[in-house]
Amino acid sequence: MDSSKLVLLLSLLYILLFHPSLSAAQQNFSNYDCTSNSVSNYTTNSTYQRNLNSLLSSMASDAQIDYGFYNLSVGEFPDRVNAFALCRGDVAVDVCRSCVNDSTHKILQVCPNKMEAFGVYEFCMIRYSNRSIFGVVDEKPSIYRANRKNVLDETVFNEALQTLFARLQAKAASGNSLKKFASGNQSAGLETVYAIVQCTPDLSEGQCSSCLLELFRLIPNCCNGNVKGKIGVRLITPSCNLRWEIGKFFNGTLEILSPPSLPAPSQGMTLIVINPLPTLILMF
Ligand SMILES: *[C@@H]1O[C@H](CO)[C@@H](O)[C@H](O)[C@H]1NC(C)=O
Ligand SMILES: *[C@@H]1O[C@H](CO)[C@@H](O)[C@H](O)[C@H]1NC(C)=O
Ligand SMILES: *[C@@H]1O[C@H](CO)[C@@H](O)[C@H](O)[C@H]1NC(C)=O
Ligand SMILES: *[C@@H]1O[C@H](CO)[C@@H](O)[C@H](O)[C@H]1NC(C)=O
Ligand SMILES: *[C@@H]1O[C@H](CO)[C@@H](O)[C@H](O)[C@H]1NC(C)=O
Ligand SMILES: *[C@@H]1O[C@H](CO)[C@@H](O)[C@H](O)[C@H]1NC(C)=O
Ligand SMILES: *[C@@H]1O[C@H](CO)[C@@H](O)[C@H](O)[C@H]1NC(C)=O
Ligand SMILES: *[C@@H]1O[C@H](CO)[C@@H](O)[C@H](O)[C@H]1NC(C)=O
Repeated sequence: MDSSKLVLLLSLLYILLFHPSLSAAQQNFSNYDCTSNSVSNYTTNSTYQRNLNSLLSSMASDAQIDYGFYNLSVGEFPDRVNAFALCRGDVAVDVCRSCVNDSTHKILQVCPNKMEAFGVYEFCMIRYSNRSIFGVVDEKPSIYRANRKNVLDETVFNEALQTLFARLQAKAASGNSLKKFASGNQSAGLETVYAIVQCTPDLSEGQCSSCLLELFRLIPNCCNGNVKGKIGVRLITPSCNLRWEIGKFFNGTLEILSPPSLPAPSQGMTLIVINPLPTLILMF
């Protein structure tokens, strides 16, 4: 057995042993960032901390919101905390609520005493700041994840991606103030590309469009070539995100009769966090 097969085997074993669903603890974020406001930390028992805790607990216990966008503000300047949690547009309400709940606890663990933080799970993300974050496009921090495998025919694939993305981008941007999300597929020769795009729904149609176009424009040149022509990629910023795979990974209305399986943990994942410091972490 060569070493790459051994690594794969060990990885699978690791996944089997430590799969999050087998443990009661909250999952780890796939990515998080708490360095964007490192000027100062809030102190324990400060007004800012009380506001943040109260906001996060409202978010965690909310039973009204069923469209996947939780945006809240608590307190007054200079201790005002603004936050949102955004669920992926296709996830079920219970999956969303439990993800948001987890994120409200996890963010305090991984970013203790931070004025600002951003945490990303597969099904939801959370962000808080003392700055105003609603109605503004924020492209930092930007997070990239890519499968290492290449598509069969990059030219054909890119054309399909372009066509699909143009459609999805327009559809998501024209969503309402509760949800701006679109999913779809496009045949790419022997492969089929499946993609989702999403903006926080507080953005205007124009803001959402330009955020997504900006993200899409990054593809050819970003991330040391780790994104272009790969079979699975996620590009994530606080304001908008996109993902494609060559297999179906999202829940669509067509699948109600035969629910799709959740995406298997991708093999050969590369994780690149461009901002603030370029790092390369090998996932499995
Ligand atoms: C989360 O990360 C911590 C520290 O890196 C690790 O010890 C723990 O096993 C991880 N938990 C899960 C559920 O993956
Ligand atoms: C904030 O806290 C971190 C540790 O959590 C520490 O490294 C950093 O120096 C602190 N920043 C300031 C300005 O106190
Ligand atoms: C924060 O407040 C709690 C309860 O009032 C108190 O027990 C704790 O010592 C305080 N911690 C700090 C660091 O002031
Ligand atoms: C996909 O849809 C099914 C049926 O509505 C639901 O049970 C399942 O939780 C959904 N998956 C996710 C990740 O939301
Ligand atoms: C939220 O998560 C906490 C800690 O994981 C758990 O104790 C609590 O029951 C959860 N709340 C809801 C409404 O799921
Ligand atoms: C947010 O907090 C940082 C660090 O304490 C501070 O420099 C900045 O002025 C604050 N911004 C607002 C809008 O309160
Ligand atoms: C691709 O999307 C179309 C709708 O645009 C749908 O009818 C079709 O079933 C999808 N194909 C696959 C293989 O998922
Ligand atoms: C939250 O978002 C909704 C819908 O986008 C908007 O109507 C509402 O004003 C926002 N709330 C806050 C506190 O910004």
